[in-house]
Amino acid sequence: MINTDIATKFADRETPFYYYDMDVLARTLEAAHEASQKRGFHVHYALKANFNDVLLKRIQEIGFGADCVSGNEVRKAIECGFTPQNITFAGVGKSDKEINYALTQQIFAFNVESIQELEVINELASKQGVKANVALRINPNVDAHTHHYITTGLDENKFGVPNADLEKCASVLKKCEFIELVGLHFHVGSQITDMTVFKSLCVKVNEWKSWFEERGTQIRVLNVGGGLGIDYKNPDGNSIPDFEAYFDIFDRFLERKPYQEVHFELGRALVAQCGSLISRVLYVKNGVKKNFLVLDAGMTELMRPALYQAYHKIDNLSAVETEESLNYDVVGPICESSDCFGKEVPLPDSGRGDLIAIRSAGAYGEVMASRYNLREEIRFVYSDQL
Ligand code: LLP
Repeated sequence: MINTDIATKFADRETPFYYYDMDVLARTLEAAHEASQKRGFHVHYALKANFNDVLLKRIQEIGFGADCVSGNEVRKAIECGFTPQNITFAGVGKSDKEINYALTQQIFAFNVESIQELEVINELASKQGVKANVALRINPNVDAHTHHYITTGLDENKFGVPNADLEKCASVLKKCEFIELVGLHFHVGSQITDMTVFKSLCVKVNEWKSWFEERGTQIRVLNVGGGLGIDYKNPDGNSIPDFEAYFDIFDRFLERKPYQEVHFELGRALVAQCGSLISRVLYVKNGVKKNFLVLDAGMTELMRPALYQAYHKIDNLSAVETEESLNYDVVGPICESSDCFGKEVPLPDSGRGDLIAIRSAGAYGEVMASRYNLREEIRFVYSDQL
């Protein structure tokens, strides 16, 4: 929640910056921890959503593991205190250098996406004389009903071992002496708000688990990925995702034996609502057809609206609430027409210097920032340091 008291404390700060509400983060982590713990579920936080050190330390302290998609993310997780035995390494294109590094760290598991990758990991592990723990990522062909750029579990997506390859995969695995199959991995997409998608995923996980068991392969870990969505429309009223409902679906629909563990890789749901991008109005420009608010933050700081046409709630922290609202196109300073945070956004009469908060920006915000137009490095403010 950003109120006028907090906005007053922003007054002398140089904008733009990311503001992290550490109380929202703590409450979100506690809710996720409680709901997962009581069902015996394991959560690996997906660093790709945000690898800010300060946030990572809090996430590590609560006891979650880490889900990484590059050698550098594995290194970062270890630096921030995650134990390698609690780190998974996913991704469709792991380089030899990255695999070698993760092998030396003896991480919990590689999420493997193809037969060729299995063979490469086996060979690199044999050269190091170690065993690599592997979870096989299966493409379950489940539609996540989300934006097509963040849908990953359909046959047309590049992710996971295609179903047609699994028979061969099972026999290759038997020959890979330096690989230990610990489990199966699935991930169907991100910003999923329709819980029936997760129910459909459970059905597929059950099918594939039985398929392997029928072939005499024991599966210890069922990793069902991440994807739980958040409420971008109402970040204050609905700041904590419904982790109870989410974990309950898997508890009810995932068939498992007592020795089988269920793992999750949540990113967005844990960190999105604690972050806002704070910016100032540079200019109010009344165009022929539109009123533009030109901010000092742009797609270089938060790319989601430009890339996915994503909605983020926009608040004017300086304006008096009772004022009549006008419709503005809220844009950034970058030389691209896609540099737009929202079209026809109803806001109070706004002026140069007003502080603007772009909400729900804690996930896939800071991490996707770029220096395009030679923009300055992004700055941060944490609520407990105000
Ligand atoms: N596991 C795997 C294998 C993934 O590919 C992802 C996200 C996650 C876990 C975490 O998903 P989450 O719980 O955060 O939904 N940049 C996009 C989102 C890309 C998601 C990529 N994969 C956005 O801003 O919406």
